Amino acid sequence: MKFFVDTADVREIRELNELGLLDGVTTNPSLILKSGGDIAEVTKEICGIVEGPVSAEVVATDYADMMREAEILSRIADNVCIKVPLTLDGLKACRAITSDGRKVNVTLCFSANQALLAAKAGATFISPFVGRIDDIGIDGMELIAEIRRIYDNYDFQTEILAASIRTVNHVKQAALIGADVATVPPATLKALVKHPLTDKGLESFLADWAKTGQKIG
Ligand code: E4P
Repeated sequence: MKFFVDTADVREIRELNELGLLDGVTTNPSLILKSGGDIAEVTKEICGIVEGPVSAEVVATDYADMMREAEILSRIADNVCIKVPLTLDGLKACRAITSDGRKVNVTLCFSANQALLAAKAGATFISPFVGRIDDIGIDGMELIAEIRRIYDNYDFQTEILAASIRTVNHVKQAALIGADVATVPPATLKALVKHPLTDKGLESFLADWAKTGQKIG
């Protein structure tokens, strides 16, 4: 499973990238707002840090303007992945951009039928929003399972990018179902390493080691 980090915070991205944990980055207009930076500058900086795809989202809602914005965003760096919303215009833009050999992440997916359309439109990634579905009282992980089944039925190559991930359990469930990628907020990504028995075990090994009076090297 690939890990993307879901943030436009350059400091966090740099730190996670240095740990060797990052396969890509996803941003959205809300995350750009939170970063306080200019979309072109922030995206360029992120693309210089991470080798993998960096999703940058169009904000136009009609096909022609989406294509114009996609051109501008694509020029920022080779690893920019254009993010388009799951609308008819977005799907049309997805088909046109991927036909040019560029990567597209179709975002704001909340149903299996939407995911089917995105795959038909040649999407590189489909982003089902697990946490936002949980928020309305429906199990978001069910959607990941449905999309996995449909894509496997027809051998679609579109990668399932589990998005709106809120907990470490979401990451585990997505991995068990077979999502190709999870885009995870920095704090949740770092929390994956934590286990109380790891901390306790390390503490007791270090205490016993101190008693030996030895040094390595
Ligand atoms: C995905 O690409 C989105 O940026 C993100 O996962 C949305 O998450 P949220 O529902 O926590 O805003």
